[in-house]
Amino acid sequence: MSILIFATNNQHKVEEMRSILGNDFEIITLKEAGIDIDIPEPYNTLEANATEKSSVIHRLTGLDCFSEDTGLEVMSLNGEPGVKSARYAGENCSFDDNIKKLLANLKGTIDRKAQFRTILSLVLNGIEYKFEGLCKGIIIAYKRGESGFGYDPVFIPDGSNKTFAEMELPEKNIFSHRKKAVEKMAAFLSQ
Ligand code: IMP
Repeated sequence: MSILIFATNNQHKVEEMRSILGNDFEIITLKEAGIDIDIPEPYNTLEANATEKSSVIHRLTGLDCFSEDTGLEVMSLNGEPGVKSARYAGENCSFDDNIKKLLANLKGTIDRKAQFRTILSLVLNGIEYKFEGLCKGIIIAYKRGESGFGYDPVFIPDGSNKTFAEMELPEKNIFSHRKKAVEKMAAFLSQ
């Protein structure tokens, strides 16, 4: 079984990755690897931040690892919050603060089209490989559901009438941006 360090402190993402990758890969969290750092996301693109996160962890450990950076891109807001999705409503804001700001910015807007975009950066034997996953959908005007995290309560993926927060993980994974990116990585790794 291949062992990969997942460069994140987000337990939701770790659970999603494990549920997608199953038993083929052992995913080690930063905590399990004994690494206690807040990984910076200093850049203006998902791609550059994903590279930064995986290369920081690779420099620290010398081991194979991967990171991912995801943003919610709302078409009528010119792609915002995008790379700023985690801190849309300001530094140290909550998921709820971000949703409130998003819904306020979309108030009265008819075009509610949005997409989650994930960039996954894998460092394998010191070389970086990137994979992208997209999930298109819409932003609804009020929150529905309790599962998941982030913008899940206001995002309905195309092909469903439920928000991500109204789905259990296996159902979210049918649509998930992260799943699409991870499946590309898994296919690459098993070549
Ligand atoms: P990160 O920078 O990749 O950790 O993600 C940025 C932000 O995007 C997170 O803090 C969440 O608010 C949001 N986000 C990322 N993935 C998802 C998802 O699958 N569902 C809902 N929100 C997400």
